[in-house]
Amino acid sequence: MMIDTHAHLDFFENPEEIVARAKEKQVEKIMIAGVGPDKFHEIINLIDKFDNVYGSLGVHPEDIDKFSPAVLKEIANLSSHPKIRAIGEIGLDYYWNKENKEKQIILFKAQLELAEALGLPVMVHDREAHADTMSILDAYNLKNVILHCFSGSVEMAMHCILKGYYLGIGGVVTFKNAKVIKEVVKEVPLANIVLETDCPYLTPHPFRGEQNEPSYIPLIAREIANLKDISLDEVASVTTANANKIFNLET
Ligand code: NI
Repeated sequence: MMIDTHAHLDFFENPEEIVARAKEKQVEKIMIAGVGPDKFHEIINLIDKFDNVYGSLGVHPEDIDKFSPAVLKEIANLSSHPKIRAIGEIGLDYYWNKENKEKQIILFKAQLELAEALGLPVMVHDREAHADTMSILDAYNLKNVILHCFSGSVEMAMHCILKGYYLGIGGVVTFKNAKVIKEVVKEVPLANIVLETDCPYLTPHPFRGEQNEPSYIPLIAREIANLKDISLDEVASVTTANANKIFNLET
C-alpha cells in the first residue's frame, strides 16, 4: 500500500473515479492539501464521503488576498473535524511574487502559530524562498513538517533531516533533467521521505503533460526505488509508515 500525502482532490470533477483508480494501484490513502477558503467546505465534503481520504486546511501564499483573521478562525474551527490532520499548504512563493514578501511572511507565521497551538503537522510550500522558509520554521515547535515538492539542494535536504523534517517527493523526480532532486533522493534516508502527486499538477513521466492523479504514485515510488537501489516494496512500506505516523492515520 502507498499514500498520496498531497493531492488537490477538490480540483477534480470526478473524485469517485480518481479515488477508485488510486485504490486499484494500491494507493490506499489520500491527503488533500488545502489552498484557500473557497474550497474548505469542498474538502470537508470529500473527507466525509471517502473513508480513506483525509484533509488539511490552510491558505497558500498565492491565495494571500483571501486571508483575514476570520479565515484563520475558520481554519481553527474546521480543524476540529476528526479527519483534518494538518495545516497546509502554507509557505512562501517568491517565484510567483516577491513584491509581497512581508505579507506572505505574516500569513505563513500566523498559520504556523495555529499549527503549533493545535498540535497539527504542517505541509509547507517553498518556491524559491528556501532561506526564509527554513529560518521561519526554526522559530516554531512544530509536531511534524513536510516540505512539499522539495526543491532544495542536497545541503538543504541534510539540514532538513537534522531538524527531523520530511521531504515530499513527487513527479518531478521522474523527469530526466531533474538532476538535483534525484541526487537529494539518493542521499536522504527513506525515513524522511513521503510520496505525493500534487495532482492535478506535476504529472510524472511518462504521462507528463496530462492531468496528474493519485494512481500515478507508484511511478514516483518506482523512481525512488531505482535511485536508491532498493525494492519498490521497501519504498512503499517505509513511506507509508512515515505518512501514517505524521498524520496519525491509523487511528
Ligand atoms: Ni499543492
